[in-house]
Amino acid sequence: MIRLGVNIDHIANVREARRTTEPDPVQMAFLAELGGADGITVHLREDRRHIQDRDLRLLKETIHTRLNLEMAATKEMIEIALQIRPHMVTLVPERREEVTTEGGLDVKMNQAKLADSIKKLHSKGIPTSLFIDSEPGQINASSDIGAKWVELHTGCYAIAKEDNVGLELAKIKEGAARSKNLGLLVNAGHGLTYQNVEAIASIKEIEELNIGHTIVSRALAVGLLEAVKEMKALIRTPRKEIFTGF
Ligand code: PXP
Repeated sequence: MIRLGVNIDHIANVREARRTTEPDPVQMAFLAELGGADGITVHLREDRRHIQDRDLRLLKETIHTRLNLEMAATKEMIEIALQIRPHMVTLVPERREEVTTEGGLDVKMNQAKLADSIKKLHSKGIPTSLFIDSEPGQINASSDIGAKWVELHTGCYAIAKEDNVGLELAKIKEGAARSKNLGLLVNAGHGLTYQNVEAIASIKEIEELNIGHTIVSRALAVGLLEAVKEMKALIRTPRKEIFTGF
């Protein structure tokens, strides 16, 4: 059955907006697991704009499912991964000025560097996935350099309109089939929503979907009413009055 990896970066984004301690992505990971997440995904970025090193350490210690660490293939990140030992690393391209990961890795152009990163991670038993566009050349190159997994970028499918939806979906389907034929295991993600996920989830070669933004957005939608009610109740009946009787 297809698995769901919940990306909790946006929870850390809210915390970092105030550089405070809430909401804590580590605690929220526990709730995501209670909801049925099969894994927790975080992206430790070079600029630490959301997930912090502390989050990574605590998540590895406390989650009950699997930790998928998204990161750039840099010396610093490889060292961190070798130390923390997540259950999986997903290598992604990273540009400081981007709002989120924009495109897939150019595996064809960076074979030596990526092969070296994969080798280091595999030597410590960490399965490594490459986040790539669903293109034959990138899939073939991923297989050539020894990746065990690929994550197919669903961003173009997610933003496609009208006839292009079918075309982009077909690309993901073909890419998933090609990857599987080459012996690669296939994940997919980026930009998936409650509206567009079903067609992707029905692609039989896909093992796991990594989904973040839409789940965190939905959490606000289903949780805001309750949160306001609790605050309203508290300011009208302070707990002090309840506990002391005056
Ligand atoms: N997969 C990868 C490699 C990503 O970089 C991201 C975004 O951090 C996701 C999946 C999840 O994308 P979204 O937040 O749009 O669901």
